Amino acid sequence: MNANSLPADFLWGAATAAYQIEGAAREDGRGESVWDRFSATPGKVRGGDTGDVACDFYHRYRDDVRLMRELGLDAFRFSIAWPRVFPEGRGKVNTAGLDFYDRLVDALLEQQIEPFATLFHWDTPQVLEDAGGWPVRSTAEAFVEYAETVATRLGDRVRFWITHNEPWVVAWIGHAWGEHAPGRTSEADAVATAHHLLLSHGWAVEAIRRAAPGAQVGITLNLHEAYAHSESPEDEAAAWQVDGQGNRWFLDPIFRGTYPADLLERNELVAPVVRDRDLETIATPIDFLGVNNYFRFVVGAGADGPRFVADPEAPHTEMGWEVYPDGLYRLLVRVAEDYAPPAIYVTENGAAFGDVRVHDGAVHDPERTSYLETYIDAMARAMGDGAPVKGYFVWSFLDNFEWAHGYSKRFGLVYVDYPTLERVPKDSFHWYRGLIASRQGASRPSPIVTG
Ligand code: FCB
Repeated sequence: MNANSLPADFLWGAATAAYQIEGAAREDGRGESVWDRFSATPGKVRGGDTGDVACDFYHRYRDDVRLMRELGLDAFRFSIAWPRVFPEGRGKVNTAGLDFYDRLVDALLEQQIEPFATLFHWDTPQVLEDAGGWPVRSTAEAFVEYAETVATRLGDRVRFWITHNEPWVVAWIGHAWGEHAPGRTSEADAVATAHHLLLSHGWAVEAIRRAAPGAQVGITLNLHEAYAHSESPEDEAAAWQVDGQGNRWFLDPIFRGTYPADLLERNELVAPVVRDRDLETIATPIDFLGVNNYFRFVVGAGADGPRFVADPEAPHTEMGWEVYPDGLYRLLVRVAEDYAPPAIYVTENGAAFGDVRVHDGAVHDPERTSYLETYIDAMARAMGDGAPVKGYFVWSFLDNFEWAHGYSKRFGLVYVDYPTLERVPKDSFHWYRGLIASRQGASRPSPIVTG
């Protein structure tokens, strides 16, 4: 793979999220988020890990931005912590919290790195959760107030906005399975949450454009191709059902203004929360779709519905996720054909492996490099077959707090030595740097080398 096979203005990036990297959980007036509460609850996060310190990005962002420059990044995806901006969820703005993102954006722009700001990467203010959380409509209204406030402050410099990250995960893992904050276990809450996330997305698209004319606004979904285990009609139907629950439930309302009929029929979506005009709002045209993809599903028909079939022979990452680049190829081509988004950014793709720092001080992670190489190849093939992909973000720039897994899963291009917080670029960092640098005719100055 060589960056020259892609358009010269293709954006090479890396992604992160506030709670996973920032730390400084109680500084400068930041309020409590559901992830602070969840990780402080015994038994919820592996080893009792919390985001209190994380990678300390809040204090070390300048050095980290320099390292991004050394990597040669065109773009950096980060998220804004809602409880830093509105410790009470809405109402009084905490200017000190907003100031942090102002400084971060300036630091990125100084290094000619394009900021991609995600407004919601799962850290709901705890006060809003206490008042009913995402299952109630007023949280969606509060989100729009927050989105508008942030876009007003940063919109003169931030051009790319992502409203939500992976609404499916928030709805199901956080509200039905209880494995993520806020730890609820109600399917009705999950369904209402998904609807309110989508609704608040639609409202926010308009609010951001009002506050920041010229902004490019999108949403990031976690999408996975569901392959049928066999060609039997039963297995095909099971795969279609999984596709509905994970993909079409979100893609259909955003691009078609409807929920998938097959899901409604099976009563998997509770209709009463949908009010007049909600679906129209959700279908407000977006400028791009963010796609997060790591693996595929293989699905067969089981006695109680779809059953996931794992191939023990296939390569898997430390997350237990199958390495299957062709799944990304098929996904991108299919999304382009079925939904015709004006642009796609692969806003997350990457792999966790059991990285160790060896005696030579380096971190040799050939499996990550090979994962990234093959997925980027698959993406390039999809672009050749019509997928309008404009940029790609490795998850993640740094090793970080991997939600319920705590610090046990390392996804970074940069290794973080948690006891000292020292940063060590892994071999995959050097590989990615070479890939970006192989692009010809790019007008970027050559990266500076830090010590
Ligand atoms: C995605 C999340 C991201 C990270 C990766 C591994 O689902 O958006 O924060 O945890 O998975």
